Amino acid sequence: MSNFIEGKRVYLRPFEEEDIITWFDWFNDPEVTLYMNKGVFPNTKQLQEEYFKKLLTSKNDVQLAIVLKENDTLIGAVGIHKIDWIHRNSGISIMIGDKTLWGKGLAEETIAFIVRHAFTKMNLHKVTAGMMAENYGSRKCFEDNGFVLEGMQKEQFFYKDRYVDVYLLGLTRKKWEEDNRRRQKY
Ligand SMILES: CC(C)(COP(=O)(O)OP(=O)(O)OC[C@H]1O[C@@H](n2cnc3c(N)ncnc32)[C@H](O)[C@@H]1OP(=O)(O)O)[C@@H](O)C(=O)NCCC(=O)NCCS
Repeated sequence: MSNFIEGKRVYLRPFEEEDIITWFDWFNDPEVTLYMNKGVFPNTKQLQEEYFKKLLTSKNDVQLAIVLKENDTLIGAVGIHKIDWIHRNSGISIMIGDKTLWGKGLAEETIAFIVRHAFTKMNLHKVTAGMMAENYGSRKCFEDNGFVLEGMQKEQFFYKDRYVDVYLLGLTRKKWEEDNRRRQKY
C-alpha cells in the first residue's frame, strides 16, 4: 500500500478492510468519544463496514487512516467531509484513536497535511472544524494550524449532565497561504 500523504512522523493512506477491526472500536471507547457527538449508540464491525463501503464511492468525503511511521501502526482517522464543490468548502475531522499517543503533536501534524491536501490538491477555498467548548485539545491543534474562531453555537450538544457550547473554527486558503509565507520569512 503506497502512502497517500507522507509526513514526518505519520503518513496518511486509504482505509482498508483489515483496518475495520481496529477502527470500529475507537468509537466504543468512552474516553475517545468523550467530546464527540458519538458513543450513544454502540458501533459495530458491520456499521463500520457499511461506512467503509460508502466512503469508497463518496465524492464528498476524503477519509484517511493515520499511520505511525516508526512501526506502521494504524493510530487514527482524519477526514475532509461534506465537501461543497460549489462553494468550495468542507469540514475537517480528526481522531487519534490510540489514547497512549495523545499530546505528542500528532494531530497537529496530521491536520497540517490534510489542510494542505484540501487547498492544493482539491482546490478548496475554505476548511472548517467544530468542537465542544470543553475539547481544548481539539481546538488547540486546529488553532495551531491557523484556524480562527468564527462563531459559537450555544448549548448545542448534551455533554454528561448539561448542554454545552460548540465552537466553530475556519481557515481560508488566503490566510493559510499568508501564514505559510510568514513562517518561511522568519
Ligand atoms: C483532540 C485530539 C485529536 C488531539 O490530538 P493530540 O495528538 O493529542 O493533539 P496534539 O498532541 O497535536 O496537541 C496539539 C496541542 O493541543 C494541546 N492539547 C492536546 N490535548 C489537550 C488537552 N486535552 N487539553 C489541553 N491541551 C491539549 C497540546 O498540548 C498541544 O499544544 P502545544 O501546541 O502548545 O504543544 C485527540 O485528543 C483525540 O483524538 N481525541 C478524541 C477524538 C476527538 O475529540 N476528536 C476531535 C473531535 S472535534
